[in-house]
Amino acid sequence: MKELLENLKKEAVEKIGKVKNAEELKMWEIEFLGRGKGKMTEITKKLKDLSDAEKPVLGKLANEVKRFLEEKFSEKKNSLENAAIEKELGKDFFDTTIPGKVRGLGHIHPLSQVQEEVERIFSQMGFTVMDGPEVESEYYNFEGLNIPLDHPARDMQDTFFVAETAAKAGQEGDGKHGRLVLRTHTSPVQVRTMEKFGAPLRVIVPGRVFRYEATDASHDTTFCQVEGLLVDEGISLAHLKGVLAEFLTRLFGKPVKVRFRPGYFPFVEPGLEVDFSCLLCGGRGCRVCKQSGWVEFMGAGMVHENVLKAGGIDPKKYQGWAFGFGLTRLVMMRYGIDDIRLLTNGDLRFIKQF
Ligand code: PHE
Repeated sequence: MKELLENLKKEAVEKIGKVKNAEELKMWEIEFLGRGKGKMTEITKKLKDLSDAEKPVLGKLANEVKRFLEEKFSEKKNSLENAAIEKELGKDFFDTTIPGKVRGLGHIHPLSQVQEEVERIFSQMGFTVMDGPEVESEYYNFEGLNIPLDHPARDMQDTFFVAETAAKAGQEGDGKHGRLVLRTHTSPVQVRTMEKFGAPLRVIVPGRVFRYEATDASHDTTFCQVEGLLVDEGISLAHLKGVLAEFLTRLFGKPVKVRFRPGYFPFVEPGLEVDFSCLLCGGRGCRVCKQSGWVEFMGAGMVHENVLKAGGIDPKKYQGWAFGFGLTRLVMMRYGIDDIRLLTNGDLRFIKQF
């Protein structure tokens, strides 16, 4: 009996050493510790046939062997489970000592930076920032702005038309709006805001505009403008000069002078070209201002009465002025950028400098 128990112990230890997984361990448990036909149970059953003297001694030994086997079983069970966990962890091992990857933060594009500044300054002067569609009706882009059908600016060759009409696209329903066009300037928003809000009015409209243009260092088919429109009673060009000088002085952080020259735009009367004093030479004359001391800046003028009428405003009661400047050009001047294409070609080496 004693021998049987010792052999059993030996055999069990040997076999458990070869167990490699949970299934094999289950088999081992059934073989040695199983309640019905397990080898341990078989031996224990024989205890009752022993003499009274042997019973306690061998009974005790049998219990020890049983407990020993149970211990072996749970040891093996634990080690198999740990191995499984380690294997699982090993799959996505995380090394907390590896330095993290530095992800570069982007920043605001120089065009947007200057646009935000322009918006801020005009907001401080009581202007509202407005928006309008980039795909515009022929009416708002031209006719509503007193640009008649036979005006050269309406020549098919001069800009981008969209095949669909405004009415068909569901943009404007009444037929007078004609075809759709990629707006050639931000001025169409003049009539749109007058229609919507009436007078008095004080708005700026920053936005993208499109022109049929052979691209070179200073021309692009897409660029940004800022429109300005002020309508009220008793308005004159003196107000325009004051607002522009104040705006440029705040933008550049030093005193800037403004000069008016006559210019022609069908939607203003009188029309103006506006220059400002060269920031580089302070007006003495340099390469940037072509020795003139002045930098060409924008078109402006008193809003034409036909435009006021198109916007539903009574020209007898109200006057107004409007201006439009190239935000893109302003950015180029500000940072000394000599090629317009750099601003939109997505070259990070360039963009990261701002
Ligand atoms: N829309 C004109 C242009 O794009 C600029 C302008 C705006 C002129 C307002 C006068 C008044 O050239």
